[in-house]
Amino acid sequence: MSSGEDAKRVAPAAERNKDAILAVLREVLPQDAAHVVEVAAGTGQHAVHFAGGLPDVTWWPCEVDRENLASIEAYRLEAGLANLRPAQFLDVIPADWAARIEPARADFILCCNMIHIAPWQACLGLLDGAGQKLAAGGRLVLYGPFRRQGVATAPSNEAFDASLKSRHPDWGLRLLEDVADAARHHGLELQQVIEMPANNLSVVFDRTGC
Ligand SMILES: C[S@@+](CC[C@H](N)C(=O)[O-])C[C@H]1O[C@@H](n2cnc3c(N)ncnc32)[C@H](O)[C@@H]1O
Repeated sequence: MSSGEDAKRVAPAAERNKDAILAVLREVLPQDAAHVVEVAAGTGQHAVHFAGGLPDVTWWPCEVDRENLASIEAYRLEAGLANLRPAQFLDVIPADWAARIEPARADFILCCNMIHIAPWQACLGLLDGAGQKLAAGGRLVLYGPFRRQGVATAPSNEAFDASLKSRHPDWGLRLLEDVADAARHHGLELQQVIEMPANNLSVVFDRTGC
């Protein structure tokens, strides 16, 4: 697919949730943050919205899917934002991904709606690479649906989980406590859990002890 208008993909959910996520980013971005890496950037709708709303940071969108990469590029060229860099190929499963993408150090990593639509190995790879990529005091934010110990999962999320597992046995909603335990092994400490519309969460981790 070319990187023209026809390459632009539209995810209705991204259109619905982009303002709520941007409001969280404004709250939790470290004040002196310069470089934000967006993992699993999808269509690019989020990237242009967030880079446009946060002109003081340089936004680095990354994706594994070639058609999504073309879509991000089409949105980027249309938006003409000085702080939005070209999308980079990124698969978070190989252990060395943090060294393969720019910038050398990130102050903030955002990953929306990936860890339940990928094998658990992708979540572990994301956490491992984020621990390597983030500067001291940096942050990782995950957005999406989760299970939580001792909290009933919303019926819509139960149905979503069942449909994910029917598409792939290794997919499905993750238990927040499992993600937090795994994150700790990579120097990422759970700081904040923010309830979001449609039974989603924004989960904030701080990079400690670099
Ligand atoms: C549901 S989409 C979410 C896209 C976007 N973040 C959003 O919220 O609209 C899941 C994304 O995860 C990406 N993804 C899946 N496995 C991945 C991996 N191993 N490494 C990086 N990205 C991956 C897919 O290509 C897809 O863009």
